Amino acid sequence: MKIYANAKVNLALDVVRRRADGYHELDMVMAPLSLKDTIDITPNGADTDRITCDAPLPETNTVTKAMAILREEASCQGRTIGGYDIHITKRIPEQAGLAGGSADAAAVIKAVNRLEGLGLGEERLYELGTRVGADVPFCIAGRTSRVRGIGELIRPIDTDWGFDLLLVKPEAGVSTPEAFARWEETETGLHDIDLVEEALHKHNAELLLSTMVNSLEPAAMALVPELEQLREEMTELGLVRVMMTGSGSAMMGFSVDQEVLENAALMLRHRHPFVQVVHAGAPAESGSAGSGRE
Ligand code: C5P
Repeated sequence: MKIYANAKVNLALDVVRRRADGYHELDMVMAPLSLKDTIDITPNGADTDRITCDAPLPETNTVTKAMAILREEASCQGRTIGGYDIHITKRIPEQAGLAGGSADAAAVIKAVNRLEGLGLGEERLYELGTRVGADVPFCIAGRTSRVRGIGELIRPIDTDWGFDLLLVKPEAGVSTPEAFARWEETETGLHDIDLVEEALHKHNAELLLSTMVNSLEPAAMALVPELEQLREEMTELGLVRVMMTGSGSAMMGFSVDQEVLENAALMLRHRHPFVQVVHAGAPAESGSAGSGRE
């Protein structure tokens, strides 16, 4: 079975506070992207999984973690999950703030729930997903949402607005724990994320552009100073707002003029490893067993 794992961007990311367990409570607006990995997943008749990828895969990857958590959950139902062959075709860059690893885990969790007939509801899937990574619940939901807690509290936003944006990932990546660790030093106070939601309800581009915020941006810029230069490059090419997504290092640039986006992509393509115009806001696709399209 072929399934899809869509990336995300943060149209807002506000850090509310550091919790006693070291995680950070967040207030976010996330939107799914057209950019996606493709995963082939098939039962292999063996006891163990064979997980492969067309890019280097860390030994403890999100898919391995997701399978372990699903097996634990199945065993609580008195059931056993056999081995799977899982092949990932990677298109989402890593250490980018695009939830590449989380998207893969989310797609696998949803697929195995269906294939094994585990009957787990959305909320239970979010709980299991949170144990793999904080962005996994949003990737399971797969539609523009207000996201709170550490990422497990999902409320879909009633909007069908979608738009293109330019995504640029420079050579350097940002480690998520390091960005969070620097947040306190660079803190700028709380922002009104309700306004971002209001902008999405009203299809109000001006309001959206003026209220989008990422509280981790100063921390990431301190870790990777060339991000400031990338912002300048993108701004010079006519993008009206340039902001980092998640904990970086991908930057997104906005314009209502498609030509500006395409021209900026053309100019930046030779200078950075990942440059693409992508669509944000359309609900993520599930794959051959879901209701999506390729
Ligand atoms: O859950 P995930 O693996 O994506 O998180 C990576 C790291 O980022 C965590 O170990 C934690 O240091 C930090 N983090 C955080 N607060 C969040 C999400 C992540 O502090 N809400």
